[in-house]
Amino acid sequence: MAQGGNGIDFLTIEDISPESKTLLVRADMNTPVDKHGRLIERMRIEEVAVTLRDLGRSKVVLCSHQGRVGRDDYISMEQHAKALSETLGKRVEFIDDVHGPAARRRISELNDGEILLLDNLRFCAEEAQEYRPEDAVKTQIVLKLASSFDGFVLDAFPTAHRAHPSIVGFPQLLPTAGGRLVAKELKSVSRIQQVAKGPYTAVLGGSKVSDRLEAITALIENKKADKVLLGGLAALAFLKAAGKYRSELGIADQDKAVQKAAALLSEYPEVFEMPVDLAYEHEGERREVDVADLDHHKALDIGTKTIQNYEKVIRSSGTVFMSGPAGAFEKEGFGKGTESLLRIMATSYGTTIVSGGHLSTALKLFNIHSWIDHVSSAGGALILYLAGKQLPLIKALSDSASRFRSGGYTKMSDNLKAQS
Ligand code: 3PG
Repeated sequence: MAQGGNGIDFLTIEDISPESKTLLVRADMNTPVDKHGRLIERMRIEEVAVTLRDLGRSKVVLCSHQGRVGRDDYISMEQHAKALSETLGKRVEFIDDVHGPAARRRISELNDGEILLLDNLRFCAEEAQEYRPEDAVKTQIVLKLASSFDGFVLDAFPTAHRAHPSIVGFPQLLPTAGGRLVAKELKSVSRIQQVAKGPYTAVLGGSKVSDRLEAITALIENKKADKVLLGGLAALAFLKAAGKYRSELGIADQDKAVQKAAALLSEYPEVFEMPVDLAYEHEGERREVDVADLDHHKALDIGTKTIQNYEKVIRSSGTVFMSGPAGAFEKEGFGKGTESLLRIMATSYGTTIVSGGHLSTALKLFNIHSWIDHVSSAGGALILYLAGKQLPLIKALSDSASRFRSGGYTKMSDNLKAQS
């Protein structure tokens, strides 16, 4: 049994005696892709390898989601299997099925030490919906797969905020241990929380605007953000709400996002810092202008004056948390905002936390990874955890620990056998 800080109890891999058992491992290998659909980094794949190495003598079935429907990153897990095989130095077999007969047959044939990766969980529509645990258990993914396993390892910390069937359903039926990544994240965050002091500053960017807006509310309400420095598409939503940005944001729920940003601005006017200048592309080059002169150009990064303003706030903060790039940093010439803010954080005296796959990769690229107090591949999940929200994954783990202690799974395994 492990203590993850904040009084969270959860089972470890050792508690479920993994040797020779058939285990389902829910990881988060969701990775950004380039315009050809190729994975552009491997951080989350390397993280799951740590847990898999410790399950060396089990029959392991690994699963993860990848991307969102309608986006370029909504692809199969085939490349992940190859990348993971290279990282582990051992074969990871891929099957293009999630819970159909082919997957179930192959699972039943696995030998000790073998690893099978299922296809993208979100190819099943159920996996894009949020459920109460008692309903998640009735989804096809859970009904069809659970009886193939002796136990479940929940290691998808970056998906901890989603009540999807693979996160909250399986722990209802299978003894569920936290994987090594979950244990590491909870330990590090608990250490950070012991030393963190105000003023608290959140530097928020990236493209998941509605997630960011939800996170901002949670951070402010829980007194974890005295200042919010805005970058990425979230900044543009706030600028639009303030009548200062004319182009479209290019997101499906733009009106809702702008309305929400307007409400936040009027409720907490002193909290938000918005860009005063922005960068756009002109004949293939970066060009900066004050926000008032942007006209209809599409902003791709924050500008130099904004970086200077944000630097003052970051350097006078006790704790700084950054999630999501400040601009389109993967595009040549538009990484300046993101790189500058990360470098300022790395050399500031406050406690620093950087979250999300893009920023973790950028830190490695600039060689300043070790200068940040806590770097996490989780984005939205970590923000909500820091804001003090109860996350579905964490609740599933602690409920499983209580059920395990009270022998509740013994009766269940009979039910599962009856189902199969
Ligand atoms: C993430 O990258 O934040 C997680 O993988 C969750 O992805 P989602 O925001 O598409 O649910």
